[in-house]
Amino acid sequence: MPMPPIPWKYQRWSHEATEEAESNADAEAGEAGEADGEPVTNVSSLSSSWSTEEGRRLRRKKLSTTASESWKLSRKELCIKKELSRTLKSTIYLATWKGTEVVVKSVKCAQNLHSDLAHEESEMMPNDKIAEELLMEIEHLASFRHPDLVMFLGACLDSTLPMCVTEYMPMGDMERYYQLNRQKYDSACWRPKLSQVVGWALATCRALSFLHGREIPLVHRDLKPLNLLLTKYLEVKVADLGIARVLARAGPESGDCGQKGMTGGIGTWRYMAPEVVRHQKYTEKVDIYALGLIMYFMSSGKQPFHQLGIDPEKILQAYLKGNEPRPLLTDCHQVLRPTMAQAWHESAQARPSADELLSELSELGNLDSGAKCAPCLTM
Ligand SMILES: Nc1ncnc2c1ncn2[C@@H]1O[C@H](COP(=O)(O)OP(=O)(O)O)[C@@H](O)[C@H]1O
Ligand SMILES: [Mg+2]
Repeated sequence: MPMPPIPWKYQRWSHEATEEAESNADAEAGEAGEADGEPVTNVSSLSSSWSTEEGRRLRRKKLSTTASESWKLSRKELCIKKELSRTLKSTIYLATWKGTEVVVKSVKCAQNLHSDLAHEESEMMPNDKIAEELLMEIEHLASFRHPDLVMFLGACLDSTLPMCVTEYMPMGDMERYYQLNRQKYDSACWRPKLSQVVGWALATCRALSFLHGREIPLVHRDLKPLNLLLTKYLEVKVADLGIARVLARAGPESGDCGQKGMTGGIGTWRYMAPEVVRHQKYTEKVDIYALGLIMYFMSSGKQPFHQLGIDPEKILQAYLKGNEPRPLLTDCHQVLRPTMAQAWHESAQARPSADELLSELSELGNLDSGAKCAPCLTM
């Protein structure tokens, strides 16, 4: 089986748990692969023309014209305070907007917004593809709202460099939270109590239930601890819809006998479902798979597949050889194990839907609220 293209590696230079160099497959591979069904929304209607200059211009123009005054921001309204984080594609800033602390996500570029606010933006050289991804994220975020998704506040489209403004999540991402606790307790491994894990899994699952259950379902495709952010009360919200895509509707009009799905490797290897790695047709169940692995991370305090070493591509190679490695369930709270195993089931159809997972987790939440889970207390 041919290896999927690995055009860019995401690397973070701020507070990243350094052992992991994340990989994302080429957006182009994903785009080409997902055109199995008829595009069902205006979001995907332009995707075929993404790669052309004209397509990009059209997307920007369309977003600008549909942007209501309620979310279109002017760059002058934002006061950038400091850089919070940097990935290979984005720079994330803490800023103030009319007195409120917010986060500004912008395409990573050679210049620093903080030190160079007054400069002409046309001097910057944003990567066009990455800018497209950010525009797509803005388009998604502006089109819906849910309490378990990081709140979208607006976007600047009046500059060369698009900027997405969201609420500030002061406790940062889940990876960072675990890292801080490992440091705090001077321990190689840290994990929270079961009720916390169940609460976080429930919130993530509610977000998926919303995204997957929309009339036009949306698949996140990049669920991982780095994209789960924490409020000051340690509530989790799902972020980073940059590579989320609408799922083609099943049915006769899709011309594929009611099957639905996308193909093409995209996302991050460690949390990527085997069918995505293998470039097979996939559905929203890739998010359920990722949530299974995230629950492993939350419950065990260990990276999934840590036993394979630090190179996440080893997982990919194992899948391509037809193997189905999975994390060790015994690392985790006992009551969570059957739910996790079901979520990362080899057969995507056998994985529960977000709604099914939600009711299972809710039951666990009820269990955990009493002291009825004696075996887990020792976990
Ligand atoms: N609203 C936010 N509040 C606090 N930190 C954030 C926020 N948004 C992003 N971050 C930080 O920036 C990182 C990268 O943001 P993300 O949107 O995932 O960018 P990318 O699409 O480049 O992966 C996150 O993992 C998190 O650490
Ligand atoms: Mg991210």
